[in-house]
Amino acid sequence: MSQSVCILGVTGSIGRSTLKILQQHSDQYSVFAVTGFSRIKELSEICKQYRPKCVVVPSDKVDELQQLLAIHHIFDIEILTDEAGLITVSEHPDVDVVMAAIVGAAGLLPTLAAVKAGKRVLLANKEALVMSGDIMLQAAKDHHALLLPVDSEHNAIFQCLPQNYLQIQPNGEPQLGVKQVLLTASGGPFLNFSLEQLKTVTPAQACKHPNWSMGQKISVDSATLMNKGLELIEACHLFSIKEQFVTVVVHPQSIIHSMVQYVDGSTLAQMGNPDMCTPIAHALAWPERIQTHVPPLDLFVHSQLDFQAPDITRFPSLKLARHAMQAGGLAPSILNAANEIAVSAFLQQKIAFLEISQVVEHTLNHVQNGLADSIDTILQTDQLARQVASQRITQLGS
Ligand SMILES: NC(=O)c1ccc[n+]([C@@H]2O[C@H](COP(=O)([O-])OP(=O)(O)OC[C@H]3O[C@@H](n4cnc5c(N)ncnc54)[C@H](OP(=O)(O)O)[C@@H]3O)[C@@H](O)[C@H]2O)c1
Repeated sequence: MSQSVCILGVTGSIGRSTLKILQQHSDQYSVFAVTGFSRIKELSEICKQYRPKCVVVPSDKVDELQQLLAIHHIFDIEILTDEAGLITVSEHPDVDVVMAAIVGAAGLLPTLAAVKAGKRVLLANKEALVMSGDIMLQAAKDHHALLLPVDSEHNAIFQCLPQNYLQIQPNGEPQLGVKQVLLTASGGPFLNFSLEQLKTVTPAQACKHPNWSMGQKISVDSATLMNKGLELIEACHLFSIKEQFVTVVVHPQSIIHSMVQYVDGSTLAQMGNPDMCTPIAHALAWPERIQTHVPPLDLFVHSQLDFQAPDITRFPSLKLARHAMQAGGLAPSILNAANEIAVSAFLQQKIAFLEISQVVEHTLNHVQNGLADSIDTILQTDQLARQVASQRITQLGS
């Protein structure tokens, strides 16, 4: 029977890759709902092609979307709005699979709603898990949701772990013969830049990733290595391991997407061409495998694979994320909120590249950590951290 899919963040890079896979397998999957935020023209084109039952946009974009749909004589798609609309489609009884591909904290409540409704949730929106960690995982257990990693690294780790690893009782230690996880990082566009060179890099340079084509925010996160920091936290939650069992390995070719080391000396790696369609297809069909257009890896072309340790002097964001995970509680949410504000300020050329991590560090030092025991507390702290980060940015600019 055909599976009905809701794509949160359909206009983004992950959203569009998801559509590609669904189109290739239209006999097995149908698009029930899609959501967009600012790219309304693109959203209307997606609606025209895929004819979902529902679409979600911010309320101030409804008129624009209606007019664009009317041009295509489309009047039968229900338009829902804002966060309430995102939650409605995420938990909709007719939906089987939710692709969580909104960027940033805005994806938290819809993703959690999908988890609480017991869906198969394909998790691209790492920020949601970084913020809500234990709450999200407990909800997945309580509501029998299947939370499957789409981030290529976590998807790779998932593929290299023993089967049913996600079902084991967590105690922070690797289990079933696992020794540690090796989380690979491309190193981003500035891997070999000196500190002096990093002072003047531009948003355009930061968004030009050498191996992956991604949204702006994650591209900047890849350039600062905060993306790896967020992924480190994501890995600890998803695989129930303490941060000391996650080693970051810079691997500039992005051919090995991550590895798992075992106590017997084995290291299992998942490899492939860098294309998000592979982890999306894997999470969509797991435990089956489905075809993608991604060409098989040609090892004679990619004959050189390099590895090095990350440089936390030039890329301190990774260290900040590790410290936030060690501190626990609300620290990962504070880190994430400050980073979202700082990245946005960098993209608007209000702060320099190296100031991104300074803003995050300042915010971590000035917002009180505490227990992340409810979503309300997490969201309040997120707001407070955003204020503190914004104030710091104003100070830096004056
Ligand atoms: N791209 C990758 O290769 C990749 C890999 C692994 C993980 N991820 C993760 O996947 C998520 C999406 O990344 P992406 O690269 O696809 O980002 P993206 O291209 O920037 O797309 C983000 C999506 O979220 C929507 N959105 C933005 N702000 C929103 C808000 N306040 N409320 C509701 N929707 C909002 C955007 O809508 P509009 O476009 O209409 O504004 C868009 O559909 C991120 O968490 C990222 O870390 C991405």
